[in-house]
Amino acid sequence: MSFIIAIDGPAASGKGTIARALARHYGFHHLDTGLLYRATGARGGDPVRAARALTPEDLDRDDLRSAEAGQAASRIAAIPEVRAALVDFQHRFAAQEPGAVLDGRDIGTVICPDAQVKLYVTASDQVRAARRAAELGADPAEVLAQLRERDRRDSERATAPLKPSPDAVILDTSTLSIGDAIAAAMAEVERLL
Ligand code: C5P
Repeated sequence: MSFIIAIDGPAASGKGTIARALARHYGFHHLDTGLLYRATGARGGDPVRAARALTPEDLDRDDLRSAEAGQAASRIAAIPEVRAALVDFQHRFAAQEPGAVLDGRDIGTVICPDAQVKLYVTASDQVRAARRAAELGADPAEVLAQLRERDRRDSERATAPLKPSPDAVILDTSTLSIGDAIAAAMAEVERLL
């Protein structure tokens, strides 16, 4: 059986950076599951058909990182049939040897409830907005409003809402450097390995 590290959390919490670092350190495969929803939203047309037709090549587009793609993703992510269409891809990815790190919103709760390690990475709204604004070269106040709207939609939807799995370790990165956040996540993995 492969080893699975599930990392969930709101936008710009640091979960992607941590997921990449853990995957590199342990030689595991890494999937940023947000890209599945971003690519589905970016395809346009009927989102359920778009999700069913998604290929790995669709995940490789630079324009998927934009704030607009994030908003579109969170709107189509609330549709149960869209989420259902993306489950197999994630399960196949997670089953790869020697292990996989998946980051998203519902990995520990829905996609990989039996993951050996579950982290819920979070940070204050202000810190997350400042990080994302610096990344995108955008206005922090505008980014803050967009993040809050997206988090609200992701947390309030009926299907697979953003929330920590009861057995997840909560990691608040508000006051941590990137290096310290990665070290804290790695310490958790080492504890459970
Ligand atoms: O993580 P990222 O910001 O790229 O995710 C974009 C959107 O995709 C999120 O706001 C959320 O609505 C959706 N998403 C999701 N479930 C996941 C990953 C992302 O619903 N596992």
